[in-house]
Amino acid sequence: MGKRVIVITGGGGFIGGHLAAKFLAAGHEVRCADIKPLDEWYQVHRGAKNFAGAMRGDCRDFKVCRTICRGADEVYQLAADMGGMGFIENNKALCMLSVLTNTHMILAAQEAGVDRFFYASSACVYNADKQKDPNITALKEADAYPALPEDGYGWEKLFSERMCRHFREDFGLHARVARFHNVYGPHGTWEGGREKAPAAICRKVIAAKVSGKHEIEIWGDGTQTRSFMFIDDCTKGIEMITHSDILEPINLGSSELVSINQLVDIAEDIAGIKLERHYKLDAPRGVAGRNSDNTKINQYLNWEPNIRLRDGMERTFNWIYEQFTAKYTAKTAHKSSVSTFTKGSHPIPGDGFNPESKNMKTWKQGIPAGWGGAPVKAPAKTAKKSAKKARARR
Ligand code: NAD
Ligand code: GDD
Repeated sequence: MGKRVIVITGGGGFIGGHLAAKFLAAGHEVRCADIKPLDEWYQVHRGAKNFAGAMRGDCRDFKVCRTICRGADEVYQLAADMGGMGFIENNKALCMLSVLTNTHMILAAQEAGVDRFFYASSACVYNADKQKDPNITALKEADAYPALPEDGYGWEKLFSERMCRHFREDFGLHARVARFHNVYGPHGTWEGGREKAPAAICRKVIAAKVSGKHEIEIWGDGTQTRSFMFIDDCTKGIEMITHSDILEPINLGSSELVSINQLVDIAEDIAGIKLERHYKLDAPRGVAGRNSDNTKINQYLNWEPNIRLRDGMERTFNWIYEQFTAKYTAKTAHKSSVSTFTKGSHPIPGDGFNPESKNMKTWKQGIPAGWGGAPVKAPAKTAKKSAKKARARR
């Protein structure tokens, strides 16, 4: 394959930044777009054409999508408002709004006649009933249906996956979809509230080491299980799947299952310390167990993500350690756990995920303040005045 023009949305984020590096190194022309201003991108590649910020890089805007897709050969649709459990459980509306980005990017890619459209889906599309036990049977691709995905984020991903399928069937778009299982590595989110467990645990262990306060707060009881995929496996898999004949959504994840307690063991071992563990049982937990069944990817590609968790964690830990110590001291280390986003959503009764929801009596209790309750009335005077003005305009 010769030199290609490649568009990466979410290029200022974790996976997008690594993917751009990979394609630039291979000699391709790369365009990165991200809604964040350039100085907030995790990696800025000078060799790429960078579309940054609300005016040039917001892929909810169809005009932006058209501009970046014009003349492109391949599009990698990674832009999404997302994060770990702390973010997606509390910001379901924001997560669902990524549907605008996905819709406009797929339309623009179709219009530009691209050769390949890659969509980054998630293991959060899988049916919650199949993930109730920490000793989980690994998730097969067929386990997404009947649908009971993660509320908000997972529903949006499942919808957008299906949109890819129908664009392929009805319009001939060469769409490819991978369901990522928890990805980690250097140059990812490690603080602020959107970080996922591997980065969060590294940061907490580092904070304990730097501050000398040998304690750690773990969300849930630590028995919940996950598999974690190192970033290099992720970008390799994306490239292989995009250029394959795999038409249905496919797992892209590690099958090395660990409990969160074991993940903490690994980080402690790398740091060379042992911490007193405190379990925060009311923190966002997500599903009890999740692992990737890699039968299909092995059949199709004769490959599966294979970087050992211990090795990937060591590289991630070292990178976070550098970031952490450049920003915090022993005295300020505790500030690294402050979350910078505000809670938008409330648990929905019966959603199958949030333990809080079980104690709710009516569906209305699940609706964010200001919705479904008594309508917010404008002060009487203002209301009268604006009615008068409106009559005068008519
Ligand atoms: P990330 O948050 O680091 O990167 C996503 C980027 O998208 C961010 O930089 C963000 O600013 C950008 N973005 C958000 N809204 C945008 C918009 N309207 N226009 C342009 N850019 C916008 O996340 P990531 O880990 O790199 O994830 C990339 C993709 O992979 C996402 O679609 C995510 O849902 C998916 N995914 C990631 C994981 C994981 O564990 N990292 C797991 C499953 C799926
Ligand atoms: N984030 C985080 N921070 N999680 C913690 C922490 C902590 O300090 N301590 C323990 N955990 C636990 C969570 O309670 C959860 O049970 C588990 O670690 C994994 O949490 P995350 O890494 O935040 O998310 P996830 O694995 O449930 O889901 C992630 O992966 C999906 C793909 O597999 C999310 O990033 C989704 O957005 C993604 O699609």
